[in-house]
Amino acid sequence: MTAEPTATPAASERLAVALGERSYEIVVGSGVLDHAGASLGALLASPRVVIVTDTTVDYLYSARLTRSLDDAGIAWRTEVLPVGEGTKDFRHLSGLCERILAGGIDRGTTLIALGGGVIGDITGFAAGILLRGLDFVQVPTTLLAQVDSSVGGKTGINTPQGKNLVGLFHQPRLVLADTTTLDTLDARQLRAGYAEVVKYGLIDDPAFFAWLEANGSALLAGDAAARRHAIVTSCASKARIVGLDEREAGVRALLNLGHTFGHALEAETGFGDALLHGEAVAAGMALAFDLSARLGLCAAADASRVRAHLIAAGLPAGFAALPRRAWDADVLLDHMTRDKKVRDGKLTFVLAFGIGKAFTARDVPAAAVVAALSDAITAA
Ligand SMILES: NC(=O)c1ccc[n+]([C@@H]2O[C@H](COP(=O)([O-])OP(=O)(O)OC[C@H]3O[C@@H](n4cnc5c(N)ncnc54)[C@H](O)[C@@H]3O)[C@@H](O)[C@H]2O)c1
Ligand SMILES: [Zn+2]
Repeated sequence: MTAEPTATPAASERLAVALGERSYEIVVGSGVLDHAGASLGALLASPRVVIVTDTTVDYLYSARLTRSLDDAGIAWRTEVLPVGEGTKDFRHLSGLCERILAGGIDRGTTLIALGGGVIGDITGFAAGILLRGLDFVQVPTTLLAQVDSSVGGKTGINTPQGKNLVGLFHQPRLVLADTTTLDTLDARQLRAGYAEVVKYGLIDDPAFFAWLEANGSALLAGDAAARRHAIVTSCASKARIVGLDEREAGVRALLNLGHTFGHALEAETGFGDALLHGEAVAAGMALAFDLSARLGLCAAADASRVRAHLIAAGLPAGFAALPRRAWDADVLLDHMTRDKKVRDGKLTFVLAFGIGKAFTARDVPAAAVVAALSDAITAA
């Protein structure tokens, strides 16, 4: 006798993103993917989905997802995109939309994003514009996507002018994060996602940061319980912040800790494999704490503690660990002033009064930023 699939496997936890009529659940745990059909059943307007994935994730995980959809009587087809950040562009978006339309959809069709942040971002965007808005579900398979990009409804693509400059806020109907998918992720991608986990501790949860200092290495080595705890804590943090400020008018900007510096580093290295987003964020968080210490806002010991943990996790925390090039503080500053988060030419940074005490600082003097960068470059 086979048991009916239940909506959630035993080893999973559910949390809610509270956004009124756009509220949804995040399910985190092992085996969540194999129960996707049952989880989706009650949610779908009609039992038809289009799975969007990349070639790597298709090979690894499509079969587990489609088996559970078959079991739940949900009709599916799959659109497979190439791997990599280059997929997040207009050409792939238009091709994807046209193939989805050609395959036949109606307003009741749901898109499922199965993959990392690239797939989540382009699929969410396609869902937001197809037939003026289809439902979509996130099935994130990288640590970065499980703790960050799948939650919060930011979707979009890149253009030659910069990253994520075209897109929509479009919330998913459900997020299904199966921690077992991380077992196939390469170690460098896992560490890059870990930087975003550390970010939540640094923003407002010093106890979580201390937990990561004690348990981060077990998490990176594959400890399933540690992974689940870190993902649930990260998602709860992001869900709370997004629930307070869906469109980044205020507190959501704290999620950009490390990102102003990080984007400048990524812009210099070409947004590619030379420096992964999470690696840039790690270096950026170390720089944000350095700058906070330099401005007398936070103790130097806190900045050192942040750096030490990032290094222990195998992440770049300074220029010595970044790709070798002639780094220039003024060039990096120039990238930062062109960031889309700059308003009226004023430099806004997320700084900190200490670990777990981040805040948004407007009007940060450019001279202090250049000095912090120059010192960090010279120290390398
Ligand atoms: N929407 C948001 O709020 C938000 C937040 C942060 C980042 N992002 C975006 O996310 C993207 C980065 O996401 P990412 O780091 O997940 O990159 P990604 O989607 O490119 O995935 C990284 C690599 O891992 C592979 N992969 C995915 N799952 C795997 C698995 N389980 N096993 C083995 N390989 C696997 C992919 O094929 C890819 O080669 C960027 O485009 C960034 O702009 C969006
Ligand atoms: Zn990020």
